Amino acid sequence: MKKLFVMASTVVCVSVAWGAGLIPGNAERGAQVFDAKGCGSCHALNGRGGNGAPDLASKPRGRFTPALLAAAMWNHGPRMWDRMKGESGSVPALTPLEAADLFAYLYTFRHSEEQGDPERGRKVFEAKGCASCHAGSGGASPVNRWRSIGDPIELAREMWNHADRMAEAVQKSKKDWPRLTGRDLADIVAYARGEPSGQRGVSRLAMASAETGETLFREKGCAKCHTGAQSLAGKSASRTFSDLAAAMWNHVPEMGSRRRSLRPEEMTRLVGYLWSIQYFDEAGDPAAGLRVAVERGCVSCHGRLPAAGAPRFTALAGRLDSVRFIANVWNHGEAMRNAMGVNGKPWPHLDRTAVNNLLAYINSLQ
Ligand code: HEC
Ligand code: HEC
Ligand code: HEC
Ligand code: HEC
Repeated sequence: MKKLFVMASTVVCVSVAWGAGLIPGNAERGAQVFDAKGCGSCHALNGRGGNGAPDLASKPRGRFTPALLAAAMWNHGPRMWDRMKGESGSVPALTPLEAADLFAYLYTFRHSEEQGDPERGRKVFEAKGCASCHAGSGGASPVNRWRSIGDPIELAREMWNHADRMAEAVQKSKKDWPRLTGRDLADIVAYARGEPSGQRGVSRLAMASAETGETLFREKGCAKCHTGAQSLAGKSASRTFSDLAAAMWNHVPEMGSRRRSLRPEEMTRLVGYLWSIQYFDEAGDPAAGLRVAVERGCVSCHGRLPAAGAPRFTALAGRLDSVRFIANVWNHGEAMRNAMGVNGKPWPHLDRTAVNNLLAYINSLQ
């Protein structure tokens, strides 16, 4: 247990928020939930922790959404509950907030930064014109004296703040604004440090809550353009922090005088906010959800004429999302499995799409 706590404390604290209704999860709290509920006694994360169950930093496979986690926990639930009862006599309950926090925590393992390549970083640095000022006689400080080499986001902040100087230089040389990819940025950091970068820098990040990030997003004028159809929510799935910082750098020219300088931590919060809102479940299809409910036998217990002591799906309508589904199934799963056993039915399999469709169906009920 001790080991897990140490590991957790080096992890990025990110708040994951979703569209209206979904409970925002917090990765730092999620690390504690993971520990307190004993998940880590069986599951490893990146090879550290228990070894009696799949490593949750890589499984379940697929784009990591709340619905994917819900499907995995549903499918593997019965075996887990048996093991937990066998080992500690009981299955600890999960609240919806704890399920959201767990999701946020596991999510951070899926979207960490890639390792930077110093040699490629040196080439990018020259190709993008950085070297013209930052190498030796150019006047600006050489990379080995940069204060901001701790992580790609702090570096991106310094770059963002001195974009005016850069813009002048670019104008004089009649070139285009030097666009960067997330990888370019990570490689420049590696070059500046003279070593491969990676987890070390990222672990310094401390995210504010989603709300603080949203406030900043408005204060810094981002929300003026990014609303409605231009909203960034759900658009940039699976981006790393460097990708998002690079995307900001790339539209410095478009922003012109609207660009506001950023204080330390502000860039981190902004990027953390952008990172958290990229995260949505796909919308489900209620008609397809009804088919799932019929084919997998859910309606035989949860339908209009409920059986085996099951609640009617109508009682859950309008407020069931993936994280609540995780918690409800986790808490009621054993009783449900027993009811299925009495009826001689096997535990049905659900994939991510089936979960999304089922939720859409249940929520559409009157
Ligand atoms: C007593 C051991 C044990 C504990 C404690 C435990 N699990 Fe599991 N878990 C397992 C086993 C074993 C499997 C694989 C089951 C199977 O193959 O069907 C599994 C599978 C999973 C999977 C699916 C992984 C995949 O391959 O797709 C997820 C997700 C998961 N567990 C999450 C959790 C979470 C979250 C907790 C804590 C709330 C937890 N587990 C606690 C033993 C455990
Ligand atoms: C027109 C000249 C010029 C160009 C071109 C330029 N910079 Fe700068 N840069 C400066 C100046 C001036 C400063 C502020 C003073 C200092 O740190 O030397 C600065 C500061 C920085 C800092 C902060 C240094 C620290 O101590 O943390 C970073 C990071 C940085 N630049 C990165 C870049 C990158 C990456 C590029 C290429 C995309 C670039 N710069 C292109 C002039 C330039
Ligand atoms: C003047 C209008 C304007 C303002 C102000 C603005 N943006 Fe943008 N932003 C755009 C446009 C247009 C694009 C798409 C163009 C592109 O890809 O270069 C974009 C793209 C982005 C992207 C990449 C999205 C993706 O998925 O490709 C990010 C991230 C982003 N903006 C963040 C911000 C942040 C953070 C701020 C505030 C500091 C901000 N923007 C302010 C107009 C704006
Ligand atoms: C054999 C009967 C039976 C079948 C089939 C069945 N369930 Fe259940 N389910 C139950 C029972 C009984 C409970 C309540 C257990 C309890 O009270 O702890 C339950 C509880 C639930 C809950 C938690 C409800 C709450 O109040 O939070 C959800 C969600 C759920 N089931 C979903 C499903 C889905 C989805 C299917 C089909 C894939 C399904 N069930 C199939 C019997 C069944």
